[in-house]
Amino acid sequence: MSDNHKLPLVALISGSGTNLQAIIDGAVGDLPVEIRAVISNRPDVHGLTRADNANIPTRVLNHKAFPDRESYDQALIELIDEYQPELVVLAGFMRILTPGFVRHYAGRMFNIHPSLLPKFRGLNTHQQALDEGETLHGASVHFVTEELDGGPLIVQAQVPVQDGDDARTLANRVLQREHLIYPLAIRWFAQQRLWLAGNGQVYLDDQPLQQPVLFTPDQEIA
Ligand code: GRF
Repeated sequence: MSDNHKLPLVALISGSGTNLQAIIDGAVGDLPVEIRAVISNRPDVHGLTRADNANIPTRVLNHKAFPDRESYDQALIELIDEYQPELVVLAGFMRILTPGFVRHYAGRMFNIHPSLLPKFRGLNTHQQALDEGETLHGASVHFVTEELDGGPLIVQAQVPVQDGDDARTLANRVLQREHLIYPLAIRWFAQQRLWLAGNGQVYLDDQPLQQPVLFTPDQEIA
């Protein structure tokens, strides 16, 4: 790999795209990636505007135009693969993926999830954390496997729950950390320091990760 190799990636979104923005901003800086396309399953979402503003090609593949998950995911594979990405980044892509789709991108697809997995898979994670009386919440980046929000963890950021937090205030603080840990995991992968072995073991810098890299509240994230 030459020093100026840029990892080709495709990002999938469904909404606002603040994580996408963090990756775009990274790529404008020294994050060694080339965002070849941003694909949304929903038209008219703000994430598409963010991509447009950065001169990144955008595509909409509306799930409502397909009869079932299999046919949608097959069309999505064909669309993504036009861009020949080495990494697929789920950045608020609000779809349950078929096993065939996940297998096609095994070891080269990331997701970010707003909880300290394995706690609080699925939706409404911030409210769940509040309802459970958690004092620490956060976000996780993981490789995507067939188990929803259950793939091998890469990095997590902890966010303390504060008195008076509601789901919105907590979500906002978690998002600030998401915007740091997602580009970080992508950087490691782009630098070929991070990979997923066939047995599901994550390696970082040739060491098996026994637990995700953890960023604590006061820690600076490089
Ligand atoms: C984030 O909370 C992310 O963890 C979850 O979906 C949300 C996407 O937000 N997967 P944004 O579209 O990146 O602003």
